[in-house]
Amino acid sequence: IADIKGGPDDGLSRVGQTLVVMGWVRTLRAQSSVTFIEVNDGSCLSNMQCVMDSEADGYDQVESGLISTGASIWVQGILVASQGSKQKVELKVDKLVVVGKCDLSFPIQKKRVSREFLRTKAHLRPRTNTFGAVARVRNALAYATHKFFQENGFVWVSSPIITASDCEGAGEQFCVTTLIPSSQEADQSPVAAIPKTENGLVDWSKDFFGKPAFLTVSGQLNGETYATALSDVYTFGPTFRAENSNTSRHLAEFWMIEPELAFADLNDDMACATAYLQYVVRHVLEYCKEDMDFFNTWIEKGIIDRLTAVVEKDFVQLTYTEAIELLLRAKRKFEFPVKWGCDLQSEHERYITEEAYNGCPVIVRDYPKEIKAFYMRQNDDGKTVAAMDMLVPRVGELIGGSQREERLDYVENRLDELKLNRDSYWWYLDLRRYGSVPHAGFGLGFERLVQFATGIDNIRDAIPFPRTPGSAEF
Ligand code: 4AD
Ligand code: MG
Repeated sequence: IADIKGGPDDGLSRVGQTLVVMGWVRTLRAQSSVTFIEVNDGSCLSNMQCVMDSEADGYDQVESGLISTGASIWVQGILVASQGSKQKVELKVDKLVVVGKCDLSFPIQKKRVSREFLRTKAHLRPRTNTFGAVARVRNALAYATHKFFQENGFVWVSSPIITASDCEGAGEQFCVTTLIPSSQEADQSPVAAIPKTENGLVDWSKDFFGKPAFLTVSGQLNGETYATALSDVYTFGPTFRAENSNTSRHLAEFWMIEPELAFADLNDDMACATAYLQYVVRHVLEYCKEDMDFFNTWIEKGIIDRLTAVVEKDFVQLTYTEAIELLLRAKRKFEFPVKWGCDLQSEHERYITEEAYNGCPVIVRDYPKEIKAFYMRQNDDGKTVAAMDMLVPRVGELIGGSQREERLDYVENRLDELKLNRDSYWWYLDLRRYGSVPHAGFGLGFERLVQFATGIDNIRDAIPFPRTPGSAEF
């Protein structure tokens, strides 16, 4: 359908051609002499209106009620100019075949259904306008991501999903253990099948990896190893966090894009993050027009203007210290009190970008070292690190990044101060022993980018199958 309707003349130049459309029935409207069937194949938001009279081959299926919302059909007909005002062209049906009829219990009938309800039907929700549009825009953002980095000479690196190290040191990892295969106990209880010592603790020496292993929280440390060999690299893959936060911005499984730049400092990092965000936003505005118009009308009024401004304007830059001063001057009260040294909460981040800077993205830099991860480069003041967060309206923190500490003694001291085991970072420390270079990178949460670009307010609707506390269905 996108192929037919997506052209500059909305399909008019193809009037007279015989075409085949395959898709799912959205609505059926039977009048005395003709039946209108709206079909969607997911290639675009638009349906193809199929007009069928009683002469057409397969009309008996209309009469017998076989064609209903949700059914899959194959239709052949001639493209004609439409009499209706909603579309330029429609298909005059010669032949229609019901490929798969739809049970009347199909839960997504035409009436508008809530997004909460649709989360319980994650296997069927891509059949709706909203989730079809989100899926296409998500796809376009992924494509534009690779395109941006490839055009700028970055090499895509696959970082591992199973790892022994905790990049962020926040203790939010999911542990991976082995179930002893073919054990009878496994049939009764998966937990019973985990190898255990005599006193009932997990026996890691008998476990698959011989020691505790986890799902990765970030591919950064692995990315650094490749950046210190291939120069500019990026990862793009799933990451996992056992954060017990039921918010509209957190998932237990989310995708992250993590570029790592060699011979680069924090300014290079911020410039890269800005250019990247502007590039992908420009891409969806240009290539996802129909879906973006839909979001603009139904999901967030004015989103197109908001995104256009992002592409055209410079982003604001503030130090953390300036951000704290700004928050202290704010006329309104925050739930979490503000003072130098505190972590910025979502309400603070949103105030800064939405109210203080009127919707413009803001990059906050030079955070207190106490609230940031061990690998960030210490600034000369001894109190702050060369970290940066990019804050955007509605979402808050979209990007977190930093210049990395390239000096061996500084990283070792920081690991000791944070009581992290130097031995388990031996390979990371090696990078500082063998030809260390200044380098920097950032991580962008892909689902937060989808939220930002579509206006969808809950992150659970920005990923096909959300994983959140208490929920791993589908
Ligand atoms: O700020 P974070 O924790 O930074 C890192 O992981 C660094 N290692 C990245 C780097 O420098 N290479 O996470 C980066 C981004 C956040 O800004 C946010 O957009 C997203 O990842 N994010 C989440 N998105 C969804 N659900 C969660 N639970 C998220 N946690 C972080
Ligand atoms: Mg962060």
